[in-house]
Amino acid sequence: MKAAQENLVTLNINGLQKNLYVRNAETLLYTLRDQLGLMGAKPGCENGDCGTCTILIDGTPINSCHILTVEAVNHQITTIEGLLDQTVQNDFIKNWAIQCGYCTPGYVLNSYALIENCPDPDDAVIDEWLESNICRCTGYQEIKEAVKSMLNVRKNKNGSYY
Ligand code: FES
Ligand code: FES
Repeated sequence: MKAAQENLVTLNINGLQKNLYVRNAETLLYTLRDQLGLMGAKPGCENGDCGTCTILIDGTPINSCHILTVEAVNHQITTIEGLLDQTVQNDFIKNWAIQCGYCTPGYVLNSYALIENCPDPDDAVIDEWLESNICRCTGYQEIKEAVKSMLNVRKNKNGSYY
């Protein structure tokens, strides 16, 4: 139901169109979790510092706590739920890159964007790319190994990860 100062918007999320009322000041993180029940993006610092709320907007990793929902209209939003069947998650499992798991959705999406946008990164590029996310369990080495594993799979399949 529409409340005061809410607007009807259409969001493109994980290939589906969703119509919903949002407040002008509502963050995408809030909309995803509290309105749509997509709980993969996690609230951490809610200040743009930890990356645990990472989603993809048109393939680019974005902190969903730092973007208003109305700004995401007319863009393609991908949450971790939209990567449900993607093998990228298996590399995190195989490399023990998950401990408590709180940061994992953000890391998986950020890593997926890395291999999509930068097919042959060196160590420095991987480090720089992953700097936007914080793992409080400090599993950084395992996460980096998972990214390298993804890159190897992609190379072995002649440039196609899937
Ligand atoms: S919760 Fe969004 S960057 Fe930390
Ligand atoms: S696995 Fe626990 S915060 Fe990263």
